[in-house]
Amino acid sequence: MTNKEQVLLFSLTSCEELTNKVAKELGLKRSSATLRRFADNEIFARPDVDVKNKDCLIIHSTCNPVNDRLMELLIFIDALKRAKAKSITAIIPYYGYVRQDRIIDIGDPISAKLVANCLKVAGVDHVVSIDYHSENMASFFEDMKATPLFSTEVFADYYQKRLKKLKISLNDVVIVSPDKGGLDRATNLSNALGGLPIAIMNKFRPEPNKAMITNIRGASVANKYCLMIDDIIDTGGTIMAASKELLNNDANGILICASHGIFSKNALAKLYRCGILDIAISDSIPQEEDVVSIVSLAPVIAKFIDENF
Ligand code: R5P
Repeated sequence: MTNKEQVLLFSLTSCEELTNKVAKELGLKRSSATLRRFADNEIFARPDVDVKNKDCLIIHSTCNPVNDRLMELLIFIDALKRAKAKSITAIIPYYGYVRQDRIIDIGDPISAKLVANCLKVAGVDHVVSIDYHSENMASFFEDMKATPLFSTEVFADYYQKRLKKLKISLNDVVIVSPDKGGLDRATNLSNALGGLPIAIMNKFRPEPNKAMITNIRGASVANKYCLMIDDIIDTGGTIMAASKELLNNDANGILICASHGIFSKNALAKLYRCGILDIAISDSIPQEEDVVSIVSLAPVIAKFIDENF
C-alpha cells in the first residue's frame, strides 16, 4: 500500500496522461513541476514542491525528440537531488536509445549504456522501464537499482476481449515473433493466452532501418490468424516485411501488438495499407493520431509503485 505522505509522483512532458492514470489507480495526487525553455531552447526543469526526504517518482519516456526528453529528465533528477529528495526513481516506459545496446561493428558506441551512466551521474537511485529491447540492458545499471517491467498481462487482457469481438477463436491463433530476439516476448504472450503455438521469423537488416524476412520456423501459419508481437514499431519495415511473408504462407489475417509505437516516416498509414486487421500498442509513447488501439500500462506501473513504496 503506497505511503501517500512519503511518495511524490511527477510527470514531465511525455507521459502526462499515463501519469494521471497511475495517480488515479493509486489514489495519489500528481505533484507539480515547472518545465520551461530559455530563449536559446535550453531546458529548465524543477519540482514546485518541497521534496526533502521524500521518495520521488518520475514517469517520463525518452521518446522523440529523444535528446530533449532525455535532458529534461536529467535536469529534473539533478533538481530533485539538490533539493535533497530521499530517493529518486525514474520510471521510463520507453527508454530512448534502447536499441543501441551492443557493438555490431568495431568502433560502435553502446548508447543505451551511456544513457544509464548519465542517469546515474544525474543522481537517480532506481530505473524502471517496460519491455526493454533485449536482456543486454540488465547489465547497464551499475550501482543503482533497475527493475524491468512487462506489458504481457495488459496485452493478454486486451486480446481476450478483442479476439472475441473480432469473432476469432484462440484455437485459430498463432503467436508470431518477427525475429529470434523476440522469442521470450512471444512465449510470454502465448503463455498468458493459455499456451498458443508460436512461429518465429528470420530477420536481417541489409542497412539501418531496413528489414528483410527470410523464412518462418515453428508452428504453421497456414489458415491461422497471426498475432505478431514486437517491442517497437518504428518505420514499420519489420512488420510490413513479416506480414507479407505470413500472407505468402497462407495466413488468414494478421494482428499486431507492440509495446512502443514510434511510427517514424508515416509508418502507420503504410501499415494499414498492408491489410493488417488490428494494431495495438501501449501508451508508453503518446500518439497524435487516434487510429490504433491503446493498451494502458497504468496497471503495470501502479502495481510496481504499490509494491515498492
Ligand atoms: C528490432 O530488432 C526491434 O525489435 C524492432 O523489430 C524494430 O525496432 C522495429 O523497427 P522498424 O519498425 O523500423 O522495422
